[in-house]
Amino acid sequence: MGFGSSCFQMFVSASAGCLRKLLVALTLLTAGLIAILYYGRLEDLQPSFGSNTLRHCAVDNLWTWECEGQHCVRRESRGARTSLATCRMKCGSVPLWPQPTGVTDLASQSIPFRLKVLRLEVRSSYIRRLLQDAFDVFRSNLENLVPSSCPEEASKEHLHDFLVTLEVRSEDRQPLLKLATNESYQLLLQSAGAAKLRAEIRAQSFFGARHGLETLTQLVWWDDTSLRVLTRAHIIDAPRFAHRGVLLDTARNFLPIRSLRAAVDGLAACKLNTLHWHLSDSQSFPFDAQRLPNMARYGAYSSALVYSARDVAELVEYATVRGVRVVVELDAPAHAGNGWQWGPNLSVCVNQQPWSMFCGEPPCGQLNPDSEELYVVLGELYRDLVALTNVTDVFHVGGDELNLQCWARELRGPLTHEELLAKWAKFQKRVLQLLAGAMGGTLPRAVVLWSSQMTRPHYARMYLDPRVYVIQTWGASAWREAPALLQAGFRVILSHLDAWYLDCGFGDWHGGETGACSPVASWQTIYQHRPWTELVPRNLILGGEACLWGEMVDENSLDAKMWPRAAAFSERMWTDPAIDDATLRDAQVRLAVQRERLVARGIAADAMWPQWCDQNPDKCLEPLDTSHA
Ligand SMILES: *[C@@H]1O[C@H](CO)[C@@H](O)[C@H](O)[C@H]1NC(C)=O
Ligand SMILES: *[C@@H]1O[C@H](CO)[C@@H](O)[C@H](O)[C@H]1NC(C)=O
Ligand SMILES: *[C@@H]1O[C@H](CO)[C@@H](O)[C@H](O)[C@H]1NC(C)=O
Repeated sequence: MGFGSSCFQMFVSASAGCLRKLLVALTLLTAGLIAILYYGRLEDLQPSFGSNTLRHCAVDNLWTWECEGQHCVRRESRGARTSLATCRMKCGSVPLWPQPTGVTDLASQSIPFRLKVLRLEVRSSYIRRLLQDAFDVFRSNLENLVPSSCPEEASKEHLHDFLVTLEVRSEDRQPLLKLATNESYQLLLQSAGAAKLRAEIRAQSFFGARHGLETLTQLVWWDDTSLRVLTRAHIIDAPRFAHRGVLLDTARNFLPIRSLRAAVDGLAACKLNTLHWHLSDSQSFPFDAQRLPNMARYGAYSSALVYSARDVAELVEYATVRGVRVVVELDAPAHAGNGWQWGPNLSVCVNQQPWSMFCGEPPCGQLNPDSEELYVVLGELYRDLVALTNVTDVFHVGGDELNLQCWARELRGPLTHEELLAKWAKFQKRVLQLLAGAMGGTLPRAVVLWSSQMTRPHYARMYLDPRVYVIQTWGASAWREAPALLQAGFRVILSHLDAWYLDCGFGDWHGGETGACSPVASWQTIYQHRPWTELVPRNLILGGEACLWGEMVDENSLDAKMWPRAAAFSERMWTDPAIDDATLRDAQVRLAVQRERLVARGIAADAMWPQWCDQNPDKCLEPLDTSHA
């Protein structure tokens, strides 16, 4: 029993000796607090993400790391020591993430430098401002590598000059990421005389140049007392797939803009280029459309939990600087309820019970295709969203899980199954017209639609034009939907729910026995999934998206549910490495380093393994099966 309870008993019996003890303790406590207030900054005691939590300004003199058989091995140091971070850069494969697809020629020598020697030179006629912004982000990412309480040390060995040259050949005055954008880049890092280093990044587009900066970030690390950079590198790199996205859902649970920005920071770090923003659903409508204030008034969880037009525009701008396109999805005609109950007959089945008859999860709600007012409202919303997101060639119109029973019951009928599907097809046709209207008469090159009954071969042939629609297939990988659609000439984006749904396996929130999907997709499951090995034609596969549906995700859990698994997905999409035991082992060590980079940028990524394994990677991996080698 400690001081507290025994003294409490004495206090009750008013023992004078104990009162004295208490007074002394209180005095000491007060003095301590005053001392902290006086000498320390109280904010240092607050928990915070980013460089402060994992990066202590400490030099662990006891340990050194030596490269042995492709791994850094921890040893007691005797004299000169090598930090883990420095060892990793010259031992085994350099921890780049995602790995480049072309030439990757790297020096093993490195040199320390201070941030103030960094300079930028831009060789491009139109987009100087954007390149400067991207460089500022690059610089601040490097700043985040420096532990906040660590003064950067200077020495004779340090660089005097570190010039980064960005050369973009594109003549685009207002660069927007398109499916056809060339995202390749070439990075050449070399000495430019004594204590001078020069990094030249050449690209066809702003987006390629930005990726090059991201790779350059990965050639820099914190080494106990200063930043270090490799002294020579030549990298030629380009992504395997044009569409590399993550879906976030702000309708089931609201995500504040700061969370979406952090998500974009992570996407940028992994060269993922699309944030698929599932903006609305039957639960809520958080977008505050200027000319339609009733949408958010009825649809938002509260007047504080909304996105203004300005929020959307600023997020799009923030994302563009980081190489990310924001694709907003206004789901329709299903997955729409709250927010749509203000107008005359805009929606049907809103919050209808028993929900299991009329929708996949509560609350129900679908749009009313017979309502002319509905099309006026949709047209206004498309106009707003198109303008705010600077849509050029990708727009998502939703289209999943229409419940025909709801329409059969609520619409003027009776309607047969075929008539209901015809009505749905007519709805999609009106949507296309409205979208074209919002875009000044032309359709985007990719109007994305979720896979559904409508996209099955029979109806797809009848109702959907493969020149217009891209189908995002989300069924299990064993389903025939993607092969059939490809055969019918549709372009597809793959989001197999058994491999790339980040929300699976956390249990069933509406009280059923099993979750809608299970188990959790581990980073290995996500990484090893290569559906295209059996799909043809390959050129119709635009890419893939990992989906993080929001029923059990809010700002408190977003980072850990998204990362590092979305990073695992990024290498599948960018590099698409073949899979064997050796590549998996190699990926695990590199991914753990990438996770540290995310954490340094303030993202609360989940842990991958005990920290001990970061320091002793060779001892935590499954031994390679060499029996038949
Ligand atoms: C992108 O640009 C690079 C460099 O000019 C070029 O080699 C490559 O073929 C281009 N890629 C495509 C898909 O056009
Ligand atoms: C989007 O378009 C608007 C208006 O044309 C423009 O002011 C804005 O800078 C654009 N944003 C981006 C990120 O290109
Ligand atoms: C709403 O729809 C019902 C049947 O679909 C119709 O009888 C009614 O007149 C409509 N009301 C309005 C305001 O359009």
